[in-house]
Amino acid sequence: MTGELSPIDRAKFVAAKRACDYVESGMRIGLGTGSTAAWMVRCLGEMVRQDNLKITGVPTSTRTAELAQQVGITVTSLDEAKWLDLTIDGADEFDNDLNLIKGGGGALLQEKIVATASDQMVVIADVGKHVEHLGAFPLPIEVIPFGWQTTKALVEETLIGLDVLGRATSLRLNGDAPFVTDEGNFILDLHLNRIGNARQLSMIINQIPGVVENGLFIDICDAVIVGHGDGKVEVHDINAGTVEEERIDIAENANLFSDL
Ligand code: A5P
Repeated sequence: MTGELSPIDRAKFVAAKRACDYVESGMRIGLGTGSTAAWMVRCLGEMVRQDNLKITGVPTSTRTAELAQQVGITVTSLDEAKWLDLTIDGADEFDNDLNLIKGGGGALLQEKIVATASDQMVVIADVGKHVEHLGAFPLPIEVIPFGWQTTKALVEETLIGLDVLGRATSLRLNGDAPFVTDEGNFILDLHLNRIGNARQLSMIINQIPGVVENGLFIDICDAVIVGHGDGKVEVHDINAGTVEEERIDIAENANLFSDL
């Protein structure tokens, strides 16, 4: 079945598959959210069912929790697990320092809490997510619904003093209504085009009352696994300072998801 995937899905799949090499029996694993992370959850489910892998997963969203349970992964809360060995998650953008923009799927708050509570964070992404400078992808920030329009105005005013190319902001919608996160909050998307100083922006935005968290992940990610449509993966390891290329045989995994 995987042999029939589109090139972008093959890229996501091979990145997810390679990330599963980091997983060992007995680990507590943060399970990310999004289409790439969903491949990883399916791969781990396969390892649980076929290879008797024993892991406990801490999902970063209700949709990941549902999928993890469906594929046979034991899930628990972060409060129950307390600290995690590893988190594997997708990203919307990553730069050469492995700093990230996340939150395209609206789960940035749980994702950031879970990744920060992990010994290691491994990001899985297709090659299109690699950028020179963060910011072409709109930066999501989670805001509480109370007074969100005032918060939005304050964010826009704050952006005037920051090193960004664009300053438009928009409320994320789900149809005609505001998109609501798992925590009951709203998301503002900041159309910045280019972020000059991501660390400064992240700290200053989080000072604004009403802002809960932003989608910049600075110094959190340890490795990014980049998938290509032809089965090639690049493993960018920030601690070792290495980029290694490998290949995943997609045909070998052709039956992986035939039951889904
Ligand atoms: C979810 O809130 C996001 O942080 C996702 O991890 C990110 O949007 C990547 O999603 P895809 O893997 O679907 O591109």
